[in-house]
Amino acid sequence: MGYPFTRLRRPRAHGWSRRLVAENRLSSDDLIWPLFVTDGVTGPVATMPGVSRMTPDEAGDAAREAKRLGIPAIALFPQTDALLKTPDGQESWNPDNLVCRSIRAIRAATGTDVGIICDVALDPYTSHGHDGVLEGGRIVNDASVELLVRQSLVLADAGCDVLAPSDMMDGRIGAIRKAIEGAGHHDLQIMAYAAKYASAFYGPFRDAVGSGAVLVGDKRTYQMDPANGDEALREVGFDIEEGADMVMVKPGLPYLDIVRRVKETFHVPTFAYQVSGEYAMMRAAALAGYLDGTRTMIEVLTCFKRAGADGILTYFAPEAAKVLNGVQ
Ligand code: PBG
Repeated sequence: MGYPFTRLRRPRAHGWSRRLVAENRLSSDDLIWPLFVTDGVTGPVATMPGVSRMTPDEAGDAAREAKRLGIPAIALFPQTDALLKTPDGQESWNPDNLVCRSIRAIRAATGTDVGIICDVALDPYTSHGHDGVLEGGRIVNDASVELLVRQSLVLADAGCDVLAPSDMMDGRIGAIRKAIEGAGHHDLQIMAYAAKYASAFYGPFRDAVGSGAVLVGDKRTYQMDPANGDEALREVGFDIEEGADMVMVKPGLPYLDIVRRVKETFHVPTFAYQVSGEYAMMRAAALAGYLDGTRTMIEVLTCFKRAGADGILTYFAPEAAKVLNGVQ
């Protein structure tokens, strides 16, 4: 039955019927809020207007705010003191490092009400800015995995809820799962940055954590080529087999086709990371008056849901939650 018996505009005519037929609904339950912590100077990140570095105690306050706004989880990223950076990133397995202290501060502030997700990768801690260790100018896989396991065990002991390996070494999910299982952390979840691309959209993040200025070369020997899609499915498949509870695609908006394929192929909890460069791009356009910031924010986050994401890591999390919940 074609036109005029079918008129697709009929349900669009009123707000009530648009609500009734909406296929996807974005809510604060879908959001994960990434936080930058520091022992140095707190305050705004220049390339991410609206985002600030905070002390561990302030991260506790942010977790209280997340709880108030109905945001289920936060994700922690440290700006490590330059003096603590070494070729092997040893500060990453110091049980009293910035992230471990932040976990304890957040736990004291919000108990178990807000999930604490911790990145597993060496880049905030290495003097060369890479996620693994170098031998003869090459990032070596298996030696890097051993250090990532040490970092994971320290984060587990500090009380984090979800380990989120973002390093893209082969075999790290299996190695981490085996180690934490062996150490009795049976309920610790792993959210694998399973399909993580070598992207230019991470620039502002590297400013925020201070890894950009020291980075030697690029990350193309371990992060994925943006030209590849089938390979993302292989990456995700391995991470699930090795013990990941949830998988992630990163960056977000330019990679929604990957989100869709991952969700349709594996039917597991699938997340997308709207990364720093995506945030910076949208924020800059809104500040310049070129775009309506609130409407574009909600539209894009809704599109992540439509593509199949169960949740989104986004620097817009508190702002979006306020709009979605109708609170200040
Ligand atoms: C570290 C890490 C990065 C991001 C999350 N974890 C940067 C990188 O791989 O260089 C990027 C997040 C963002 O841009 O918002 N491995």
